[in-house]
Amino acid sequence: MRAKLVARATKATTPIISLTKAQLDDWKAGAEGAHVAWVERSRFSGRSGELCLLPTSEGGLHAVLLGLGEAFEPWPFASLQKGLPKGRYAISTELRPEEASEAALGFGLGAYVFDRYKKAKPPEVELVWPSGADRSWVERLVDAICLARDLVNTPAQDLGPIELAAAVQREGKAAGATVSVIEGAQLLRKNYPSVHAVGRAAAQAPRLVDLRWGKPAHPKLTIVGKGVCFDSGGLDIKPAGGMLMMKKDMGGAAIALGLAKAVMDAKLPVRLRLLIPAVENAISGNAFHPMDILSTRKGTTVEVGNTDAEGRLILSDALFEGATEKPELMIDFATLTGAARVALGTEVPVMFSNRDDVAEELLSASSRAKEPIWRLPLHQPYRRFLDSPNADISNTGSSRFGGAITAALFLEHFVEEVPWVHFDVMAYNLDNQPGRPSGGEAMALRAVYGYLSQRFGA
Ligand code: BES
Ligand code: MN
Ligand code: ZN
Repeated sequence: MRAKLVARATKATTPIISLTKAQLDDWKAGAEGAHVAWVERSRFSGRSGELCLLPTSEGGLHAVLLGLGEAFEPWPFASLQKGLPKGRYAISTELRPEEASEAALGFGLGAYVFDRYKKAKPPEVELVWPSGADRSWVERLVDAICLARDLVNTPAQDLGPIELAAAVQREGKAAGATVSVIEGAQLLRKNYPSVHAVGRAAAQAPRLVDLRWGKPAHPKLTIVGKGVCFDSGGLDIKPAGGMLMMKKDMGGAAIALGLAKAVMDAKLPVRLRLLIPAVENAISGNAFHPMDILSTRKGTTVEVGNTDAEGRLILSDALFEGATEKPELMIDFATLTGAARVALGTEVPVMFSNRDDVAEELLSASSRAKEPIWRLPLHQPYRRFLDSPNADISNTGSSRFGGAITAALFLEHFVEEVPWVHFDVMAYNLDNQPGRPSGGEAMALRAVYGYLSQRFGA
């Protein structure tokens, strides 16, 4: 569902006055007595997303106060979508250009509804583009985030490896990229044995989707996303509660595709490669087994401690392939471990990197974007927990602790020396917050996009 951001037209607009708690007192000092009395009577305190409708003496709508809480952020502007009567509004507060963009972004994301299977009312609140807003930045990020949300929200019945690959092809075609797909038994011939092993038991064949875009002379940026369209756990089957949300196990792929779409839309001067291993971790007579020893693209043998640690297996082949080109930077997104959620909860993506300078810049991009990410260490001594008696490495390891770290160390083995960042994300909102409805979420996308445009932008 698209937000109604409109150009200023002749049609009358109602002013929106956005105020942090601290700015509320200043506003009161300059406002009409009757308005101040009304605001106090309605106990408006400037809480984030709080609205106060100021009437005219005839009972019309004079203006709207919008609380911003302690500091400026996009989310209160999402509350305008549902909180205001039908009509056209314009923010009358003086905003810095970044704030104007963030306000429009919040408003835009506030209109998102997953309406593929259930009709939703079209948005009735129109907002005039705040002056100074970077419209293409706003539309680019809203489109990228909504694409990722739609993909995650679509149930596995309608979003298997076939449809996930088709989504990459669709976005690639629209942006003038080339997309190739290696599918089914071809994966064995072309040496992607882990992608094949994990995905071969499903009705839809596993595949590796490979998108390339941009001038070959530009710095190489490779983005990889875990595309497990449904994770039953395989033969080490998940209990019902753990399996319930596993349509979202392609969330990493959805975020990677959304980010790639934004990079291409912005025409960042990079040579982009997007690698998506797309599989379903299903159960059937030909499913891979616990204690199977898989081969990988790199040649490393992997003993399967648990078929539910499938994400790192498919990523091992994709990351190794990505590394062979020696990109300037490789970034992966994956709903990789429950342990990352135990460590930081569902709303703070865990970041790992083998380069401190890149990690630090990503953390500052995260605070600029007002989108949380947090770094955990690639603590090398834990590498011993991945030792296997029968193969070069185990996909689960022997420790019950530090699961997000051991998973990241497993991936690192296939990345070799390439500068690399790994995001272990939830990709799902468990409840409703303004602009972030329950369901699929493109976690870390805005922060990483901000970092990339700063680093590679012309
Ligand atoms: N997709 C899951 C991880 C997951 C679970 C992410 C819940 C977000 C929420 C992944 O494939 C998985 O099952 N990981 C196992 C690994 C274990 C078997 C070593 C896990 O985290 O329990
Ligand atoms: Mn799993
Ligand atoms: Zn999984």
